[in-house]
Amino acid sequence: MKRRSKILGADSFLYKECFIQHMLIRKAKKVDIESIHKLDRESTRYHKKFDADFYTISEKWWKIKKDSQLKAIKSPTNLVLVAELDEKVVGYIWGYVETIMKNKIGKIQELIVTSKQRGKGIGKELIKRMLDFFKERECVISEIEVFVENLPTIQVYEKAGFKKREYKMQLKLNKTTKFRPFF
Ligand SMILES: CC(C)(COP(=O)(O)OP(=O)(O)OC[C@H]1O[C@@H](n2cnc3c(N)ncnc32)[C@H](O)[C@@H]1OP(=O)(O)O)[C@@H](O)C(=O)NCCC(=O)NCCS
Repeated sequence: MKRRSKILGADSFLYKECFIQHMLIRKAKKVDIESIHKLDRESTRYHKKFDADFYTISEKWWKIKKDSQLKAIKSPTNLVLVAELDEKVVGYIWGYVETIMKNKIGKIQELIVTSKQRGKGIGKELIKRMLDFFKERECVISEIEVFVENLPTIQVYEKAGFKKREYKMQLKLNKTTKFRPFF
């Protein structure tokens, strides 16, 4: 018992009541950027099944994204957290506070847990820590955009208390040009 409490610091939590492995949730550092990038690439492969064109991402855009993440790591209105299992980054969440007409909104920009470690409570803990940050920053609500086809993730957010509120509707106006926002 004594040894366990020594190993588990304030940022750790028991990993599915398994006392051998433990999970550490901590703020991302500059050195984590490549691990985060690897997770981002995994997330893109996962999302391609919902919209292959949307998730066709250029190398130029990946660089822009990495630069934004490095800025986010240092920004007081952003929070980037990583989940570490046995000193390996297995998940991350990125959120930021946006002020619209004096109302503070906590936006979740990215969330991914590597496929082998899903369903073990890591995503739930990352969301919880992000919501704590939003509350500390006096956000009134938290928002996330998620593809309608991404049903497992919708369930994860619903379990965290999120409710479906608005539909983002799209109509394709040009049948020959692909919509590729990350090019
Ligand atoms: C979404 C994601 C981060 C969730 O991480 P995770 O570690 O697997 O989630 P957890 O194990 O913490 O599960 C949280 C809750 O959701 C439930 N849940 C997890 N996966 C589920 C699934 N596939 N279907 C239904 N419920 C699920 C869990 O049972 C748990 O419920 P509980 O609160 O009652 O215990 C992960 O599935 C993922 O990376 N998905 C692909 C990327 C993605 O879609 N990202 C979001 C972009 S908007």
